[in-house]
Amino acid sequence: MIRAALIVLGGGFLAQAAIAQEGGGDPEAGRKVAGMCRTCHGLEGYAKIPIAPHIGGEPAGYLRRQLDAFRDGSREHEMMTIVAKGLTDRQVLDVTAWYEAQDATATLTADPSGAPELCSSCHGVDGIAIAPDAPNLANETAMYVDTQLKAFRIGKRHSEIMGPIAEGLSDEEIRAAADWYAGVKLTIKPGPQAN
Ligand code: HEC
Ligand code: HEC
Repeated sequence: MIRAALIVLGGGFLAQAAIAQEGGGDPEAGRKVAGMCRTCHGLEGYAKIPIAPHIGGEPAGYLRRQLDAFRDGSREHEMMTIVAKGLTDRQVLDVTAWYEAQDATATLTADPSGAPELCSSCHGVDGIAIAPDAPNLANETAMYVDTQLKAFRIGKRHSEIMGPIAEGLSDEEIRAAADWYAGVKLTIKPGPQAN
């Protein structure tokens, strides 16, 4: 009986290990990696400098895609390119699992009728994304949103979805959308898995 139980436990452990190896990162290991990110993104992913985005509570898949883009040069930034190129694949998996495990909540400070209609179907009225591949925009600085939209518009940052959308926007529309999302209040708390 005891032996059978041990075999079952052992099987469970191996299955867990296989899951961790396949796609899942380890948030606890990621917490240590996040020590390299905290001066700019905060340990819980609430940004400390206006040019850096909040990354706490973003899906690991989105964060990984961006880090990979910095690593392969398809997205460029003088600071992030260096940081991303210095990470191992394992560190990328773990640190993105850590940031995904945080809990982001948005609170509107203005009437929702002022939200940019063209954006809210994917990024939400309050900037908490609804579309699975889209990032949160809640409380990103107007400067950050403006910079990214202009990068999409000229093709400096690549996205099949955001490229054509940004090409159709005037500077004024960019400004209005950036101001809307910058005005949303954002709270990031340690998530249940990130203890
Ligand atoms: C010196 C400051 C700095 C450090 C340290 C730093 N970042 Fe960044 N990060 C930035 C800036 C600035 C941007 C925005 C780049 C841009 O404008 O494209 C950014 C963007 C990102 C993005 C893209 C997010 C999005 O919404 O598209 C990810 C993911 C990211 N950083 C992860 C990390 C991780 C993980 C670490 C630690 C291993 C880290 N960063 C360390 C400054 C930093
Ligand atoms: C059909 C869905 C969709 C719509 C509509 C949409 N977006 Fe996006 N947006 C995305 C996706 C997907 C990404 C991630 C692109 C990538 O992988 O780099 C994104 C990324 C962004 C980013 C980069 C955020 C970051 O953290 O780096 C900004 C800024 C942005 N969108 C602003 C807007 C604005 C403003 C509008 C309205 C004018 C808008 N988007 C409309 C899907 C959408």
